[in-house]
Amino acid sequence: MTSGSSQDRPAFRIRPARRGDAEALRYLVAELGHGDLADAQTVSWLVSHPEIELMVAVDPLDRCIGVISLSHRPQLRLGGRIATFDEIIVTESWRRRGVGKALLNNAVTRAKTLGVRRIEIYPHAVHYPSAHAFCAAAGFHKVPGGIMRMEFPAPARR
Ligand SMILES: CC(C)(COP(=O)(O)OP(=O)(O)OC[C@H]1O[C@@H](n2cnc3c(N)ncnc32)[C@H](O)[C@@H]1OP(=O)(O)O)[C@@H](O)C(=O)NCCC(=O)NCCS
Repeated sequence: MTSGSSQDRPAFRIRPARRGDAEALRYLVAELGHGDLADAQTVSWLVSHPEIELMVAVDPLDRCIGVISLSHRPQLRLGGRIATFDEIIVTESWRRRGVGKALLNNAVTRAKTLGVRRIEIYPHAVHYPSAHAFCAAAGFHKVPGGIMRMEFPAPARR
């Protein structure tokens, strides 16, 4: 688990999502205008999926204030795994306090541990300017199609 705090910032921490977070996640996704699509069944599916990792940022009362979803699978042309970050959301009242960055860094570290060679994020058009700035600040670069990408070199083969 990762935590973020400083004298002028309230503490938050990052932990794996649980089925009990479903209601809070529904609200987070709804904040982006996706309605009620993130239902309990879908959250349960994500939480138990072997190639998906769902992590949440929580406030000191363990209330979800952000979420990131890491989806990964092997890809032949990469000789390793490719990952996508399908959701990165921080609730409006907690934005620009480092929560998104902490979620992203945590997921990148986890992806590297899983042997991921490339991570892609497909920012939603509605959030383009801020989403691109956020991803670029974390070291992702823009490739054609608006995709934000981060790559790790393949280990030398013998
Ligand atoms: C994008 C989002 C996840 C960022 O979360 P956050 O907790 O506010 O981000 P952080 O505070 O960790 O920001 C880290 C850095 O990213 C950049 N950044 C973040 N939000 C930004 C914005 N709106 N405009 C420009 N740069 C931004 C800044 O460089 C920032 O560092 P700074 O605050 O020291 O300047 C959040 O705004 C959000 O949920 N947006 C709606 C959904 C979305 O667009 N998701 C991302 C899809 S790629």
